[in-house]
Amino acid sequence: MSTPQPQTTPRRYQLFIDGQFVDAESSKTFATPNPATGETFAEVAEADKADVDKAVAAARKAFEGKWSKMSARDRGRLLYKLSQLIERDAAQLAELETRDNGKPIKESTYIDLPGVVENFEYFAGWSTKIEGETIPVPGQMFNYTLREPVGVCGQIIPWNFPLLMAAWKLAPALAAGNTVVLKPAEQTPVTALELAKLIQEAGFPEGVVNIVTGYGETAGAALASHKDIDKIAFTGSTEVGKLIAKAAAENLTKVSLELGGKAPNVIFADADIDQAVNGAMMGIFFNQGQVCCAGSRIFVEEKVKDEFLGRFKEKAEKVKVGDPMDKATLMGPQVSAEQLNRIKSWSPQLDPQFQNGYFFQPTIFSDVDNKMRVAQEEIFGPVSSVITFKDDDELIQKANDTIYGLSAGIWTQNITRAHRFAKAIKAGVVWINTYNMMNAASPFGGYKQSGYGREMGKHALDLYTQVKSVWVDLSGKPIGWFGK
Ligand code: NAI
Ligand code: MG
Repeated sequence: MSTPQPQTTPRRYQLFIDGQFVDAESSKTFATPNPATGETFAEVAEADKADVDKAVAAARKAFEGKWSKMSARDRGRLLYKLSQLIERDAAQLAELETRDNGKPIKESTYIDLPGVVENFEYFAGWSTKIEGETIPVPGQMFNYTLREPVGVCGQIIPWNFPLLMAAWKLAPALAAGNTVVLKPAEQTPVTALELAKLIQEAGFPEGVVNIVTGYGETAGAALASHKDIDKIAFTGSTEVGKLIAKAAAENLTKVSLELGGKAPNVIFADADIDQAVNGAMMGIFFNQGQVCCAGSRIFVEEKVKDEFLGRFKEKAEKVKVGDPMDKATLMGPQVSAEQLNRIKSWSPQLDPQFQNGYFFQPTIFSDVDNKMRVAQEEIFGPVSSVITFKDDDELIQKANDTIYGLSAGIWTQNITRAHRFAKAIKAGVVWINTYNMMNAASPFGGYKQSGYGREMGKHALDLYTQVKSVWVDLSGKPIGWFGK
């Protein structure tokens, strides 16, 4: 493998609250390592409850003040301007993302950053298209609805697509006229704080977006349980998703959750096997397998098992694992020592001992039974389980035998079979003869314990708006019920 180069002195970052870059009230900081080398990449201010309180107050002030008074068009223009500034700085942001997260530069350049730009651009257009309705109520009455922002939103995001997850959360919230306190993951705080600089440059009023970097148990928990937050949006583990929902229940804060997955990626004997092998690779080795919709359960029809497995193994062995800054690298390190150790607990004999970085090699378990732990628990690494099946009915039963329901893939040339599967599978996203396709205009989210609410597309606006019904009497007469 190519060797990651040692880095220079750590970068330094402050919190972004009320339009200013500030230290944490406690003056505490934390280090975020470069996962390719284990060295400190950046020193970042560590927010806790006091800073979250400040950020929520700033977001409240902005919501009740300047931001609500701004026209939808001006809001949209700010979002569009932000998308252009991100595009201008995309190469630099991609490099920072790769150094903070470990993902190959090829991915941050061609997938993450374009996705970030696309989301801000797409939702910029929605700002002026959020409308109410008129309702055909009986009698001399006029009834209409207003679609209004929810208010102050807390948003807690993970480390697997740091800037892209910030974009998925911020763009619809801002388009709909909300203000935000965003908490990035402690493993990858850097690009969100770089985004804060561009938010400042674009000219967003102070307090509209606040970014508080810190740990989940402190800053995250303070945000989720905050009494002055109107909505909390979370992406991360199912375990923490449940904590967020419980904390939010205390104040009846609105919640949306995008959680774990254990997606079936299904290969029928009538599939184009080359395409299916590529699809299986994309499903489980992309982003080091750290993807909530990863196709981690590969279901193969029994009669093509040997053919598929032979080709899959051969390709997996050729994946170039190494320095994520190398343009030819297809897999970089896992995000953290903690994540690496979690993955190793599934496959301890495969410790590759790559230098000081958190590297792990593509791994395939064959002859897996869907009831095994390895087929039921999310691993969040480049580890796939291959499970065989005989017919469609057995497949559907096994594919749905999971607590999760985020996504699914199917490889077949038979369109009836493909659409039958799409209907029968309990998952929020289905890919037919493709995998991991996404677009800002297309909804994404889970069934079952993969969460609730849909991000991206027009459905995301439902998470960030609420409906007010307004009744107007047109008769000019008294109600009369209690007598004239
Ligand atoms: P996590 O769920 O603990 O972290 C995600 C975010 O939640 C981070 O910003 C974190 O600071 C915050 N958080 C953690 N505890 C919190 C709390 N008590 N209150 C409020 N916020 C809190 O995920 P973690 O520990 O990094 O990874 C564990 C596993 O979670 C992974 O192995 C993977 O299975 C899953 N995961 C799923 C993701 C997805 O995209 N659905 C993303 C990241 C992790
Ligand atoms: Mg955690």
